[in-house]
Amino acid sequence: MLSSSRIISRLPRVALHQTHINTPDNLPTTYFDFTEENYLRVTRILSKYPSNYKQSGIIPLLDLAQRQAGGWLPLAAMDKVAKIVNVAPMRVYEVATFYTMFNREKVGKYFMQLCGTTPCMICGSEDIKQTIEKHLGIKDGETTSDGLFTLREVECLGACANAPMIQMNDDYYECLTPKTTIELLEACKNGQPPAMGKWGSLPMNGQVSCEGPKGKTSLITVPGHPPLRTDWEKFEKVDPKSVKVHMGYGGYDETEVVEEKS
Ligand code: FES
Repeated sequence: MLSSSRIISRLPRVALHQTHINTPDNLPTTYFDFTEENYLRVTRILSKYPSNYKQSGIIPLLDLAQRQAGGWLPLAAMDKVAKIVNVAPMRVYEVATFYTMFNREKVGKYFMQLCGTTPCMICGSEDIKQTIEKHLGIKDGETTSDGLFTLREVECLGACANAPMIQMNDDYYECLTPKTTIELLEACKNGQPPAMGKWGSLPMNGQVSCEGPKGKTSLITVPGHPPLRTDWEKFEKVDPKSVKVHMGYGGYDETEVVEEKS
């Protein structure tokens, strides 16, 4: 259970997240448009929805805009998305302020989301947080003066088996200790964050995926096909390492002909 002091300490950040504050680089008049390459992605995204339900594409379009803008969403980017899907800008603001995956203020090159929920807390997330704060000289919600790191404590990121963990941009670094946390920060400072492991995340204690110290002890045989499904071979096999490509983060085939659904 969250202590009352922890809840109170989160309130200002939530309030901030829901309020637009004009800054020199984030004004209603600031220019934003998708690049030519990203307009191909916009077309691809919208092709997934009927033309009279373009607003269904708001979340992937905001994600695309955020990636183009360097990890955050200027007001002008939200306005551009509203224009593309033909809704009032407020409809887009509602989405962007509801989902914490969207950053309304600038973040550092390495945006660290530290999980502070119960399993991670029990396994030492407070130590990891203090290590990061001390090593980088920032507090929760702040960005280093060189613009390299932003730290934000968040709720469960779904990697509880490998607690404590952080998400650094799109990548998961798990089974952290204060020592490996510092190693990770230093590697990022040198522009060489450790590569993800075989299964698309990196337990920093050397283990493979969620296997315990004894290695793989369950699910060691390939389960048979479910009784009603016999067409598995028809599905494309996805290498876990290329999951970002399959999710569309830079993996679109720009030459693919997009047919609008009716
Ligand atoms: S509690 Fe930290 S990832 Fe779930």
